[in-house]
Amino acid sequence: MKPVIQLQHIKKYYDTLKAVDDISFDIYPGETLGLVGESGSGKTTTGKLILSLEKPTAGDILYNGQSIFAMTPQQTFAWRREVQIIFQDPYASLNPRMTAGDIIGEPLKVHSLPDNGRVEKLLQLVGLNPEHRGRFPHEFSGGQRQRIGIARALAAEPSFIVCDEAISALDVSVQAQILNLLKQLQEQLGLTYLFIAHDLRVVKYLSKRVAVMYLGTLVEIAASEELYANPLHPYTEALLSAIMIPDPALEKNRSRIVLKGDIPSPLHPPKGCVFCTRCPKVMPKCHVERPALRQVKEGHFVACHLL
Ligand SMILES: Nc1ncnc2c1ncn2[C@@H]1O[C@H](COP(=O)(O)OP(=O)(O)OP(=O)(O)O)[C@@H](O)[C@H]1O
Ligand SMILES: [Mg+2]
Repeated sequence: MKPVIQLQHIKKYYDTLKAVDDISFDIYPGETLGLVGESGSGKTTTGKLILSLEKPTAGDILYNGQSIFAMTPQQTFAWRREVQIIFQDPYASLNPRMTAGDIIGEPLKVHSLPDNGRVEKLLQLVGLNPEHRGRFPHEFSGGQRQRIGIARALAAEPSFIVCDEAISALDVSVQAQILNLLKQLQEQLGLTYLFIAHDLRVVKYLSKRVAVMYLGTLVEIAASEELYANPLHPYTEALLSAIMIPDPALEKNRSRIVLKGDIPSPLHPPKGCVFCTRCPKVMPKCHVERPALRQVKEGHFVACHLL
């Protein structure tokens, strides 16, 4: 299968701050790629770059094999319809003075598409009562507001959606409902997701593959089962060791890896491997040379000098 989106050596520097520093990965049609990492590791910036909300400092992004920076204005317009985002905070991302119906219908206006009952269909699609289209965001619960955000993202019939911490602000009981909705919509509409979250637990349910970011770099990417069963980067190992395993036998036999220190500032990233200041397995070479992301097994890529 050919990738639908390809990031090639993408960098995003804000002056001297290296928010994203040379990452490459592919996204395949119909899959969910989970993207995890601590706060400030560059996840949202990566999402914004794919959505053309930010311009990279260097590197290229391909959509169906074509550079999104070498498109004609018409192609760019069509591309903008293909990609949408669902934000973390449905409180902040919905205009409080617009009705649910107007919020959901906005992308139709932007792309000069007819309504023809589409807003009502979208409300139904995300499990909301179409009769509530005249209500304002504050009249809905948190989970319902996120459903409005999802309906808005779907309005112009995109094929690719960035879910940026889409469930993180919700109550735990509501999180599962929204995850189920996203999964159901993906199956129904053939959507491709980039699913961004802090936590490996959250991405597990939806993601076919998982990518791990640390300080603007990609340290590991693999199929979900492979990554959770056989993490190869010491950072991924540490992240996984911090997750509770529901099986008491497994839980008893494993040890928790506690990383020392804080994540360094992206203004002054360490020389060599960006993880070298906190890595339990650090070697002299790690302070000197940045390890490249290399394929160590079919579909399993790691950036580490240990391998
Ligand atoms: N517009 C901007 N100007 C300057 N620095 C920025 C800008 N946007 C992001 N950054 C910086 O880039 C780095 C990466 O930010 P980003 O928001 O991508 O991280 P993140 O992984 O999404 O974090 P979080 O989990 O907290 O959402 C951070 O150090 C952030 O402060
Ligand atoms: Mg973010």
